[in-house]
Amino acid sequence: MRISPLAIAQPPHFSAHFANTSAHGLRLKNPAQDQLWHDTEFFSPSSFFHQLLEQLKQLPPGTPIYSMACSTGEEPLSLAMILVSQFGREAASKYKITAVDIGKQAIEQAKSGVVTVNHTERRNADAALAGSSTGDNTLMSFLEPLTRRDYRPALRPRINNVTSETLQLQPWFANLVSQMVTFSVGDVRQVLSNNPIDSSKPCVFLFRNAWHYLPDKDRTTLLQQLKQQMAPGSIIGIGHLEHERSGEYATRERVSTAELIERAGFTPMSKKNATLFQKK
Ligand SMILES: C[S@@+](CC[C@H](N)C(=O)[O-])C[C@H]1O[C@@H](n2cnc3c(N)ncnc32)[C@H](O)[C@@H]1O
Repeated sequence: MRISPLAIAQPPHFSAHFANTSAHGLRLKNPAQDQLWHDTEFFSPSSFFHQLLEQLKQLPPGTPIYSMACSTGEEPLSLAMILVSQFGREAASKYKITAVDIGKQAIEQAKSGVVTVNHTERRNADAALAGSSTGDNTLMSFLEPLTRRDYRPALRPRINNVTSETLQLQPWFANLVSQMVTFSVGDVRQVLSNNPIDSSKPCVFLFRNAWHYLPDKDRTTLLQQLKQQMAPGSIIGIGHLEHERSGEYATRERVSTAELIERAGFTPMSKKNATLFQKK
């Protein structure tokens, strides 16, 4: 089951968000609305974060990171945790994570510092953080039980029917996050036109499990921008949904996103179902 953005137990069907247009497939009916699926989890999957950390270690310290379609913030927060675990608290003054999502409510929640966590997320996080150079980090060394009184129901009160725990960032970590992560509402299709990437150094551009929201021509335009703007050595990260070749996520894609990324000159960093691609 997917999580409804508005805490409705049963989300509307996928097709409710799309108008069937032409041979080009489905077009997002109203991308500005908040009726998008904001499913996301901490360290999901932990193998992705392991692999990404290995790449970040090879890239210059302070490599800029884009977390597009960041939803309620679990991806940029996972990155912040892994960077702090690996490089210590000084990571906050080096690394900048630009986190953007089209959903206003999702970004509001991300900014609140209140999160919901289930067992899988804890397990994944602990696995991803275990190998850190600074020792025995776990998810709970960054989070603590919620004490705020102004808490309003989260966008993710339940995950896969499992009641999740409501937590908040520990104050020291919230302070680092405020230095490292900038959350804003935006459309990935405009972000790089309005604020081009600094082409003088490599960067990491994550846009995971959201390419299916873009019509084909927008996927192509975004990839052209990335090809032009990203310096050699830069990395694009995608999600598992970008490899779905059947079912609702694949219906509008004649060419997979992974294939388009390769065609744009990025090399897959693993043999099968790569989720990281590097510009040579
Ligand atoms: C399934 S969630 C993926 C969240 C996260 N990237 C992950 O993989 O865990 C999809 C997210 O994409 C966002 N989204 C959809 N179209 C977008 C666009 N054009 N620009 C920015 N965000 C978008 C939605 O609001 C939603 O939060």
